[in-house]
Amino acid sequence: MPLTDSVTDPADPFSAVTHAAPYDYYRRLADGPPLRFDAQLDCWLATGAAGVRAVLAHPACRVRPADLGVPHNLAGTPCGAIFAELVRMNDGERHAVPKQVLARALGQVDMARLQWRALHLAGDRVPGSAAQLNDAVFELPLFAMADLLGFAPAQWPALAAWTRAFVACLSPLSNAEQLAGAHVAAEALLQSFGRLLREGDVRPGSMLAAIVAEADALAWQASGGVLANLVGLLSQTCDATAGLLGNAIVALRTQPDLLPQLRAAPELWPAMLREVSLRDPAIHNTRRYTAEDAECNGVRVPAGQMILVVLASAGQAESGFGHGRHACPGQAIALAIATACLQAWAGALESLPLAWRYLPSLNARIPMFVQGANA
Ligand code: HEM
Repeated sequence: MPLTDSVTDPADPFSAVTHAAPYDYYRRLADGPPLRFDAQLDCWLATGAAGVRAVLAHPACRVRPADLGVPHNLAGTPCGAIFAELVRMNDGERHAVPKQVLARALGQVDMARLQWRALHLAGDRVPGSAAQLNDAVFELPLFAMADLLGFAPAQWPALAAWTRAFVACLSPLSNAEQLAGAHVAAEALLQSFGRLLREGDVRPGSMLAAIVAEADALAWQASGGVLANLVGLLSQTCDATAGLLGNAIVALRTQPDLLPQLRAAPELWPAMLREVSLRDPAIHNTRRYTAEDAECNGVRVPAGQMILVVLASAGQAESGFGHGRHACPGQAIALAIATACLQAWAGALESLPLAWRYLPSLNARIPMFVQGANA
């Protein structure tokens, strides 16, 4: 059962992310104007399918403020050097080619093999307690990605730990100690990928081999950019897939009919995960910044404004994995890994007494489980 109070409404879209029951609030946001200025938050809100789509599709709505490619607190740091290159954090030239390389390489992944490998890895790590479950929802997806990229199993735990430390640099809630840990982790991740690429060890058929081949084919030469975006693949996997997995476990606890149905028809697991990614998504919002005056849904937003795009209010495919030129290229991979983990763990989890609250975040909904009364 959720440990937080579900009676009072969230105060705003940021607190909705970790609220026990935010979806009536999101529905009401979606019933309002698609684009509005929120004086209290001092930013614009894009809500409902129409508002979310219009902003994500608009060429003047960029992922970073025009004069601030890297946040002040990361400027001149190892994390800042990675941040500056990420497809997720760039528009225009620095986005288009790297995005195409990644999308083409991720599109070549053998999904049946990935699911089989992830099922095998998850089967070796069935969580026996809430604490083990909290670790496993983060680690298993990262192990599966590290395997896909071509790292040896002995390297996976360190890569997973560094990735979890690195993503702290992406959250405004992180403190100085977490940021210091993120910089150490950023260096270690860059070195690990650099070594893997340099040693000529790139495993034929691995995702890394596909990325190298596509980068050559599309003349993406900036090797620093390739390295940074390889780190980006692990960091994009980390919180989002942990959230999908955790929210699916919450669905199994709160909807007791689900597991018997899935046992009777295991081919329904992928559909169940897709449903969770729409109805209780891992990523609830993202931000855009107007580079020039932009007209969206008949509303003029002046240049230099921040728009909070409330994905979770869209109630459609974009509520789970985004939309438009920055839409997630990892959707199929995330769903395959999460499906495998749940198939391996659902039976054991059934007998674990679990309660949960949500990890502090302004955009990702990730349950943290504690030993507690069965929901
Ligand atoms: C359940 C798991 C996942 C969820 C919910 C998710 C969600 C998202 C969302 C909403 C965006 C768009 C952000 C925006 O428009 O501002 C995005 C972008 C991205 N995701 Fe995912 N993601 C997941 C897993 C993954 C995985 C496993 C990978 C890598 C294999 C990945 C790689 C990326 C990349 C590279 C981008 C940036 C794309 C761009 O900017 O063009 N994601 N993701």
